[in-house]
Amino acid sequence: EKRPVITDLPADRKDDPKVGKLPSCCRNGTILPGLMDKSQSQSIFQLQVFKLPPDDNRTALTPPQKWKINGALNPSYKCGPPIRIDPTQFPDPSGLQATSASVASWQVVCNITKPAVPRCCVSFSAYYSDSVVPCSTCACGCKITETGKCSPREPAMLLPAEALLVPFANRTEKAKAWAKIKHYDVPKKLPCPDNCGVSLNWHIDSDYSNGWTARLTLFNWGNDPFQDWYTAVKMNKAYEDYENVYSFNGTRMEKEVKSTIMFTGLKGLNYLIGIKNGTDPEKNPMVPGKQQSMISFKKKHFHNIDIKGGEGFPTRVLFNGEECAIPKRFPKNNAQHLNSNALMVLCIAILTFLFMTDRFH
Ligand SMILES: *[C@@H]1O[C@H](CO)[C@@H](O)[C@H](O)[C@H]1NC(C)=O
Ligand SMILES: *[C@@H]1O[C@H](CO)[C@@H](O)[C@H](O)[C@H]1NC(C)=O
Ligand SMILES: *[C@@H]1O[C@H](CO)[C@@H](O)[C@H](O)[C@H]1NC(C)=O
Ligand SMILES: *[C@@H]1O[C@H](CO)[C@@H](O)[C@H](O)[C@H]1NC(C)=O
Ligand SMILES: *[C@@H]1O[C@H](CO)[C@@H](O)[C@H](O)[C@H]1NC(C)=O
Ligand SMILES: *[C@@H]1O[C@H](CO)[C@@H](O)[C@H](O)[C@H]1NC(C)=O
Repeated sequence: EKRPVITDLPADRKDDPKVGKLPSCCRNGTILPGLMDKSQSQSIFQLQVFKLPPDDNRTALTPPQKWKINGALNPSYKCGPPIRIDPTQFPDPSGLQATSASVASWQVVCNITKPAVPRCCVSFSAYYSDSVVPCSTCACGCKITETGKCSPREPAMLLPAEALLVPFANRTEKAKAWAKIKHYDVPKKLPCPDNCGVSLNWHIDSDYSNGWTARLTLFNWGNDPFQDWYTAVKMNKAYEDYENVYSFNGTRMEKEVKSTIMFTGLKGLNYLIGIKNGTDPEKNPMVPGKQQSMISFKKKHFHNIDIKGGEGFPTRVLFNGEECAIPKRFPKNNAQHLNSNALMVLCIAILTFLFMTDRFH
């Protein structure tokens, strides 16, 4: 083959006498970040290479050029040329306790490239606000055919919390009803959907004098499940005071990525299932796959952290290595309306008082 396609073997070939029986073999095309699980961060397979005349000098080796990685989830990588490195050591295939060195080794470095549009997005919500800031309009792109029917420029409509649980198509009625109750404007042409296969909700759950909590929920709106999902959250100020996560496995990425916490599923909860039909498909909307955990923070380093001002929200979020779109606004404090109302009453009271005192002169 001049342009061979090499595919990693599925897990059931692990003990195959012909192609298996290699350490780290047969990972079905999935490797995890070393930070998450070193033992699953490499995949090995063996293939036989033959030489065709006139290129039959056994010691003149040329490695294959122009590598390319095709992935289902993270499809875009850019690879450099193979670079000669020291021969790789590997356990002897005979099974004896010995290591062999390869005849020659090359290294090909492939970097993930940023896709033109993200594939995941984030919504923000908080206990002090009854309106949710959903994923941005067209966060993961909009098709031209779609934009005739909706506006790609109109900001996403604020939602009641329960609307986050249903597919975008079923939110419209809820969003309109909510706008009516809350006296929000309803644009003539409604905003387009976010079109993201995965969304994450960051909810500020509480804020005390010595700490605060957030709840992170992952939604899978696609049909395919994610096994061994992982998500990374950059927190800036709040990072220093990250305390614990309860239903996920959380790791501080001290050196690797600044101010970032990585979350993975605990054993048995590392599977984010796909969307499925509601109990009665006629009456109930479809149900996305979900994973959720509480996360607690202290206020040791930043006692005055302004949670209501937005400092409790992440500044970057990644899902399975890909950067997710983040909203451009924060949930508004309900009390702000009350405050301005109270101020208005006070003003009127003072004015009335002024008018009254005027009369006495
Ligand atoms: C292996 O990968 C294929 C293609 O990505 C997927 O459809 C299949 O479910 C995977 N099998 C296992 C056992 O994970
Ligand atoms: C085979 O290749 C090696 C390394 O490039 C070279 O030193 C050697 O002379 C070649 N042998 C023949 C017979 O061409
Ligand atoms: C991959 O990233 C590294 C580090 O940023 C850089 O040095 C290298 O040139 C990149 N390689 C390619 C093929 O883009
Ligand atoms: C959490 O992750 C660490 C590092 O990958 C791992 O050693 C540990 O077993 C995990 N804990 C659970 C409960 O899954
Ligand atoms: C989901 O509901 C639709 C419409 O009722 C039906 O066609 C489809 O087969 C259902 N899918 C599953 C997996 O039950
Ligand atoms: C949800 O939206 C889809 C697409 O518009 C529609 O077919 C379905 O009937 C809606 N489901 C409910 C329960 O409203």
